[in-house]
Formats: sequence, structure tokens, C-alpha cells
Amino acid sequence: MLNFEVTHTEGLARRGRLTLNHGVVQTPIFMPVGTYGTVKGITPRSLDEMDAQIILGNTFHLWMRPGLDVVKQFGGLHRFEQWDKPILTDSGGFQVWSLGEMRKISEEGVKFASPVNGDRLFLTPEISMQIQTVLNSDIVMQFDECTPYETKGHRTTEAEARFSMELSRRWAQRCQAEFARLENPNALFGIVQGGMFEHLREESLAALVEMDFPGYAVGGVSVGEPKEDMLRIMAHTPQRLPAHKPRYLMGVGTPEDLVAGVAQGVDMFDCVMPTRNARNGHLFTRYGDLKIRNSRHRSDERPLDESCTCYTCQGYTRAGGSVSGGFSRAYLHHLERCGEMLAPMLATIHNLHYYLNLMREIRQALEAGGFAAFAQRFRSERQRGI
Ligand code: GUN
Ligand code: ZN
Repeated sequence: MLNFEVTHTEGLARRGRLTLNHGVVQTPIFMPVGTYGTVKGITPRSLDEMDAQIILGNTFHLWMRPGLDVVKQFGGLHRFEQWDKPILTDSGGFQVWSLGEMRKISEEGVKFASPVNGDRLFLTPEISMQIQTVLNSDIVMQFDECTPYETKGHRTTEAEARFSMELSRRWAQRCQAEFARLENPNALFGIVQGGMFEHLREESLAALVEMDFPGYAVGGVSVGEPKEDMLRIMAHTPQRLPAHKPRYLMGVGTPEDLVAGVAQGVDMFDCVMPTRNARNGHLFTRYGDLKIRNSRHRSDERPLDESCTCYTCQGYTRAGGSVSGGFSRAYLHHLERCGEMLAPMLATIHNLHYYLNLMREIRQALEAGGFAAFAQRFRSERQRGI
């Protein structure tokens, strides 16, 4: 089941409410990535406290480990990972793409060697639907081929992008048939491909709209292309998708990309950036990014961002507010230098809080009809520097 209502618009930007089997998601939304059934370095309780509304999981990884028998025993991914709000799972299409040389794509599906134990495996649109049905994810993604931007220095040609897009389109049909056969009670999204070619994107989109999915994703971006190509596709495709259905831009992006994506009519985003960068000491703040490993933070008593309300920046709180002033940059720098586990944990809390709060501010601005002004202030604050 899926219900989507757009409650406010400003230009192409939309504020909406997405109702799924495990709850309601306020859009535009950022979805933290939880590949192996865990958003790395953070408990579901902390995610809940920072008001994460939907998280990702991965068909490919969960199929490898723990395997479907275990997830089936738990009645799905929600109870297994102790997260009772909505989950979206990617189909495996992108992850197989990431395997590079180790795979062989045919009409039927993708043959590859398991990166875990070398077993020969075969993933097809039907198997991806069967796995995602066992996972019981609220949003199931079609199995697709994510068209690469280039392969070993060779830029994907129009003919190659067309072949790939048409294969994904045929796979969309097989996914839809299998999803119906399985009587999966959740929602299946189609994925628009077409590489960097607008006319191929339009063909892909038209075919998927004809199939009448409850929601649509734009895939094949953030695949190593120059930023200007990403922005060109972002300014082209989302606004052409059906207005009354949710639109998901896959694998994007920086805080600036999220604001630009919302301005182009995108409702949903996911990206490893806040969590992965946290583990590398790269922190996002309202006033720009900060590398906590830099020795200039060695004795800095200030928190990462005085205006941030996350646990990392507030420290312990008692009735009435923060009483500790937050973890200092000096302390976070020290933890990083010592390789302490708490370093990536506190950084992950802060970065995810930053992303989720940015989306909350975007939603509030859209409700008040002030998104354009918000976007302008956002950009100038981010350029100020921290
Ligand atoms: N994640 C980022 N891009 C893609 C894509 O094109 N397809 C899928 N399935 N997942 C993605
Ligand atoms: Zn913070």
C-alpha cells in the first residue's frame, strides 16, 4: 500500500505526505542508508530520536548475509533490525553494477561470483522481487541496470545507454509481473534510466509511466559524471514525472544537491555521504564542512556547530536544555587521533542530524511559502565557513 498527497508547492518544489505500511513519511525526505540492515555506527533508537522516518536496506547484501532463511524466520527486516518505521530496499541493480568486472549481464539477469564466498550466483528481476518480498520492505525498487557514466575510461555511448535503458525497461515489466504474482502488499517503484541523454530519459520515463507504478526513481546519476551533467539530468527528469506520485533521486547527494533537487521537484533522497563521511572525520555544518582530523582543532573548546541541536553538539541535557555545551572539537579531534569508536559514532549522529534537520527546514519553508528565500540563505550560510 502507498498513498501520496502533495500538500504545498512552490515552483517545482513540493511538500507532501507519503503513507506506507509501516507509517507516514513527510516529504521532501532524506533516507539514511542501512545496507546490511544497520545504519552504520548508530542505534535505531538514536535514529528514531533524530526523527528519521524511513531508512534503506539492500537486497544484494542481505541476500548474501544473513541470507533469506534467517530474515524469513524473523518475518522480515523490520523485526530483525528492530526498526518499526518504513524501510526502502534497493533491488541489487546498483550493487551488482559496483562489482565491476566480476559480473556478466544478459537478458535473463546478472551472473556473478559472491564477493563473500565466491559462490556462483544469478540475480534476476524475479529473484530480486522474491527477496524484497521476504524482507517486507515498504518500498521495493525494480531490478535495473544502472548505466555507467564510463567504463575503464570509455564514455558510455548513446547506443550503449539505449541498450541499457531498454533492458531496464523490460526488467521493469518482469518485476511488476512477479511483484503482483507474489501478492506483495507493499509498493514497487520504477527506475528511470537513459544515462546522460535527455531523449533516452524521456523514452524510459514514458514507458514506465505507461506501466503505472505507484512511485518513480531517477537512477543512473551520481555514477562518476561531472557535476554539471548531474545537475542537467536533475533539472530535466524529475519535473517530467507524474505530479501526484512520489519522486526519488537515487544516491544523491551533498547538502547543496538536496536543496537543488527539492527545487527541481524531488521528494526523496538517499546517500551514504553523511554516514560514510562521518567515518572519515568529514562533518557537515550549517556554515560549511569541517575536517575534524585537522590539527587546527587540537585545543578548540567549541562544539562542531553552536546552532546544532544534536547530541554531539549539545552534550548531556537536563530539564531546561544543554548543561555541558556539547562535545568540543578538541575532544572529537582527540578521539579521531586515537582511533576510538566514539569518534565515528558522534560524527554519524551529527551528520545525520544535520541532513535530517536540513530536510525539516526545507519542509517548514515550503509550508510557509518561503523555500526560495530559504535556499538563498542556505547557500550563503554554507559558504560563510566554519
Ligand atoms: N542507486 C544509485 N543509483 C542507482 C540506480 O541507478 N539503480 C539502483 N537500483 N540503485 C541506485
Ligand atoms: Zn551537531
